[in-house]
Amino acid sequence: MRLWKGLYMNAYENVTNAMPRVRGVLLAYNTNVDGLKYLETNDLEERIERVGRERVFELVEKPPGRIRNLEELFAGILWSITHGKAAEWFVESDEVREYLMEWGWDELRMGGQAGIMANLLGGVYRVPVVVHVPQNTETQAGLFMDGPIYVPRFYDSAFELVHPREAVEDGEDLIHYIYEFPRGFRVFEVEAPRENRFIANADDYNARVYMRREFREHFKKIAERVDLAIISGLHVLKERYSDGSTYRDVLDRVASQLRVLNRLGVKSHFEFAYTASEAVREGIIEMLGNFTSVGLNEVELASVMEIVGDSTLAEEVLNGDLFATIDAMNLLMDETGIERIHFHTYGHYMALTRYRGEHVRDALLFAALAAAAKAMHGNLERLPQVRDALSVPTNERAFPLVEALEREMDMENGIVDMTDRQLAFVPTKIVASPKSTVGIGDTISSSAILGEFARTL
Ligand code: AMP
Ligand code: GLC
Repeated sequence: MRLWKGLYMNAYENVTNAMPRVRGVLLAYNTNVDGLKYLETNDLEERIERVGRERVFELVEKPPGRIRNLEELFAGILWSITHGKAAEWFVESDEVREYLMEWGWDELRMGGQAGIMANLLGGVYRVPVVVHVPQNTETQAGLFMDGPIYVPRFYDSAFELVHPREAVEDGEDLIHYIYEFPRGFRVFEVEAPRENRFIANADDYNARVYMRREFREHFKKIAERVDLAIISGLHVLKERYSDGSTYRDVLDRVASQLRVLNRLGVKSHFEFAYTASEAVREGIIEMLGNFTSVGLNEVELASVMEIVGDSTLAEEVLNGDLFATIDAMNLLMDETGIERIHFHTYGHYMALTRYRGEHVRDALLFAALAAAAKAMHGNLERLPQVRDALSVPTNERAFPLVEALEREMDMENGIVDMTDRQLAFVPTKIVASPKSTVGIGDTISSSAILGEFARTL
């Protein structure tokens, strides 16, 4: 498939040439500290034995979805390993938080969709970004890369944008403990079918989508400085909080900020993440039509189909059925009126848009390079790392899908013309032994929306 090699090279050039045109990108709301630990079999087995292996294995069968004691912590880790799936549970016990802190981490990294995208867009792509940082402690601020990355600071009626390291404040470190494991990782009789991670989330701010005062009171001034906004972090919302407030209060605030963005003509992308609460998911879907674009993976699209479609379609999407996935994307577009839907899964990406152009496909190709580079290095630091990913082989397993689309839908060069819509499809680059998996989805979605948008300026 020589075709894709040429398309990949052109896409890299086209996107990187256009990126300097972007004046600014707003990234909100979730920024935190990720403490990454690469699990080791012996250490994990000993810890599980100490808290009681039998009880932990019982809990793996009935996953509690939150962490109130050590048994639940290890059940979460084992559940992820057993299924090779990502999961994120809140830590509701101070004792467990202390334990996690003592167990420690191998590496501290920027965490949260907004934070990760800030380092990628601002630090690596050098596009100016304004980012929401709930608690800008020394540890948090120290994780921001150099580059045009800003947080807003207001004093009296004046306003300035400064690098997060120039705005360090007292506060709490919002730590998410990330337990990464490779494919084939063994613990007792369990073996991981694929690489993935479990997240123990010890963070009381992002859990409620905390919004800083500057963002609540001066949002318009911030929005005037950008021409694209990427919104994320709503997935953690609970239906009701102990003080009587609900997820609705947060969604209303987001909706009013979205109205400001739309009035100013700022394009907006919503980055979906697995949203456990069905009510919250429904609330988010109702708001989608006010965004320009949405990004999601197969699990997330299936969870959306549980609401706007039916469980059969959801099941087919989850099983990787290509044409069912395209149906699901069309249905989501019909139901919400959104202009762009970007779907990503292991091995290929698709974008359904209400407009046409090769720039949509090119942006997906560029995103696949960024994802491969992220998988290879764990942390992206320089643009040439993305270019180097051109040498990673294109996923051959997606070629039968390309052929099916060419046959059934007259796809040419990764583009299907659907009278009032366009579908772009790309086979991606797969890194055989990724360093880590956390943050790849964010890298894909933000690279694609930025790469596409830059070329329209
Ligand atoms: P998410 O499911 O949103 O966390 O995003 C994970 C995405 O990362 C998957 O959909 C893949 O497209 C991509 N990905 C995962 N592992 C690799 C890998 N080894 N090489 C390249 N891309 C990967
Ligand atoms: C979630 C996690 C965060 C992680 C991010 C990566 O937001 O809470 O810790 O960095 O996902 O996508």
